[in-house]
Amino acid sequence: MPDSPLDPHEAAAAVLDESAAAAVAALAPHSRPTLATVLTHASVRRFAPEPLPDDVLAALQAALVRGPTSSALHSYTHVLVRDVERKRVIAHLAGDQPWIDHAPLLIVGCADLRRAREVTHARGYRYTAHDLRMLISATADLSVGLQNASLVAQSLGFGTVLLGGVLNGSLEIAELLSLPQRVVPLVGLSVGRPSGDHWPTPRPRLPLPLLVHHETWSLDAASERELLAAVDADTRARGDFEGRRIPWAAMGLGGDDPVAHGDYGWLEHTARKQGRATWLPQGAKVDVDLPAQGLRVSSTGDADEPEG
Ligand SMILES: Cc1cc2nc3c(=O)[nH]c(=O)nc-3n(C[C@H](O)[C@H](O)[C@H](O)COP(=O)(O)O)c2cc1C
Repeated sequence: MPDSPLDPHEAAAAVLDESAAAAVAALAPHSRPTLATVLTHASVRRFAPEPLPDDVLAALQAALVRGPTSSALHSYTHVLVRDVERKRVIAHLAGDQPWIDHAPLLIVGCADLRRAREVTHARGYRYTAHDLRMLISATADLSVGLQNASLVAQSLGFGTVLLGGVLNGSLEIAELLSLPQRVVPLVGLSVGRPSGDHWPTPRPRLPLPLLVHHETWSLDAASERELLAAVDADTRARGDFEGRRIPWAAMGLGGDDPVAHGDYGWLEHTARKQGRATWLPQGAKVDVDLPAQGLRVSSTGDADEPEG
């Protein structure tokens, strides 16, 4: 099967300075295929319809469970969905994402806060674990599995896209998959051959100093603003977010959109995503869905309070 034709040196140079990228590229791709796979990652959203071969399906299942798991609890269950109609309904519930039903395989990653509780009760103890704490480690567990499966898929010539949109339909998807209480769909992964064997070019990342610090927090506010302004200018120049512009009406502020065509970059897009008014009336759906699935977690409410 063909590997991704993308160049690991180019991908490394997109996040590291040139000498570091050259040093990393010298490790890849032949002697270090994992590195090449990781560096050339790009989400795929156009899939060829043919089903995945059984050996690939087996490799994905092994990858889903071979990663580390917090306290050896295995607080996740993954559900593999290949049925066309079931995928179609999930694609709708996850925010009308067509690549979910176009991909031959959907993996629904679920936090499983049921299994350990059953075991605790079966041994005659009260279950005293804290659900929010457990949900956080379950989310880490299942993300490790999905990312490992994604890397294995990519290394075998298949494309993937992670699907946080599954959380939008968590309760309904749980019903559709006959999940017991406390097994909660959180993140999905679509897997399939990229349509026309076309691999997207790796997409840009924020600059490394924003995302990785050494020893302690090492970024002052002015540098942060400067780095983000440069990112914004680049994304505006390329028009990266114009096609995904969040409509002004969603902000609930009235009047016409004050941001002209060509001025809508990463900063405005990020601010609109996190600040849109349309989230407010119905509240966060997770506040309803998680308790309905048997979890005892409570929202911290409105985070828009100044610190200090
Ligand atoms: C936790 C998580 C949830 C995501 N959810 C979705 C999703 O619901 N739909 C989607 O199309 N992409 C989703 N993505 C993919 C991101 O949009 C993508 O990783 C990002 O835009 C960067 O692009 P790249 O992966 O091609 O580098 C998700 C990624 C992560 C890590």
